[in-house]
Amino acid sequence: MNSLHLFLPCPAGVEDLLRAEVSALIATPAQARRGGVTVQASWRDALRLNLHSRLCQRVLIELAHGEYRHEQDLYAAASAVSWEAWFTPRQSFKVELTAQHCPLKSLNFAALKIKDALVDRLRERLGERPNVDTHWPDVRVHAHLSASHLTLYIDTSGEPLFKRGWREDKGDAPLKETLAAAMLAASGWQAQTPLYDPCCGSGTIAIEAAQIACGIAPGAKRRFAFEKLLPFQPHVWAALKVEAQAQHQQPAVPIFGSDVAHRMVDFAQRNAERAGVGAAVQWRGGDALQRMPPAPSGIMLVNPPYGERIQSGGVADAEDFFNRLAAHWKKHYAGWSAWVLSPDLQLPSRMRLKESRRMPMWNGPIECRLFRFDMVAGSARTARAPDHPPSPPQAPAVTG
Ligand SMILES: C[S@@+](CC[C@H](N)C(=O)[O-])C[C@H]1O[C@@H](n2cnc3c(N)ncnc32)[C@H](O)[C@@H]1O
Repeated sequence: MNSLHLFLPCPAGVEDLLRAEVSALIATPAQARRGGVTVQASWRDALRLNLHSRLCQRVLIELAHGEYRHEQDLYAAASAVSWEAWFTPRQSFKVELTAQHCPLKSLNFAALKIKDALVDRLRERLGERPNVDTHWPDVRVHAHLSASHLTLYIDTSGEPLFKRGWREDKGDAPLKETLAAAMLAASGWQAQTPLYDPCCGSGTIAIEAAQIACGIAPGAKRRFAFEKLLPFQPHVWAALKVEAQAQHQQPAVPIFGSDVAHRMVDFAQRNAERAGVGAAVQWRGGDALQRMPPAPSGIMLVNPPYGERIQSGGVADAEDFFNRLAAHWKKHYAGWSAWVLSPDLQLPSRMRLKESRRMPMWNGPIECRLFRFDMVAGSARTARAPDHPPSPPQAPAVTG
């Protein structure tokens, strides 16, 4: 349990940020791969990453990796894994399979072969077979098929890690918490700088920031799959949670969120209270085209509305909205940097602003850019940074 090979998947575009986060959290060098990060670490580190990582989707332990050509090779590889070291036949499980360029005819059949191998092994070794539960399994096994290789993982997280356990109220287009955290990490925001989201919706960006400012671990409010795995020792987990609680602190600066929809502001407030940061964020109602800066300088992080979600008196269309937003920022927000996540690659020219950074980021299947605009008194011109080619999103999953 002291040298596990971990894989931490993340959205495309976030790999380098996650590599830096993992290396810092467990003081071990990690490697960025396409769609995630690998690191050699202990069981305790795997627990620590589940509790503290804001950027990864889950923490997987690699149990097998090898070549395959036929379904029978998948059965043989899965039969050779010591599943009995991880869980018992009394626990339900599910096999989740992802594939890229897999030559096999049916991915469902491939997942079935892995499931059969696992069941047969536990029955032979322990005299009983575990049941499959595709909805609420105790244990999730992940299998990835490339064109030539199979990799098998056991999942220590369970529900994906963007589910922090505090969001009950959400609007139409909430950001995943992991993506909000990636925006914060990409912006380089430090908790001494005022932060404002003028289109906050259910509050994801401001709440993530407030938890960072208050030293609250993202996993403090949720359960994890590792609690049901055999290596789990409650006292080790309890000690990690106590250590995390000792990091709680008063935030150095207030964080601000506002939204034109008062219903959203109520949602955001309730979510913030559940997330333990009710007092750290100042929420307001109001139109982003009219709200004045809540501090003399700071960072705005914005996941703006599009199409019919734009609500503002007299605005003709999205073009008009972004035009007026840019004019408002140029006039009143000198000293602020605005980071805007948008699928519209032409946003800077629509806003008649020059971005100083543009970073590819995927919002689920939607290719976006995170643009940085620096508001300078009298002018908003900065040098244009080069665009980096984005990576495609991950392959869809099938289950068996
Ligand atoms: C894409 S959503 C933001 C979602 C948010 N990041 C979350 O995680 O819930 C855009 C938000 O902009 C708000 N909005 C629309 N027009 C606005 C305006 N003129 N001023 C401020 N907010 C506006 C909508 O009410 C919506 O909540």
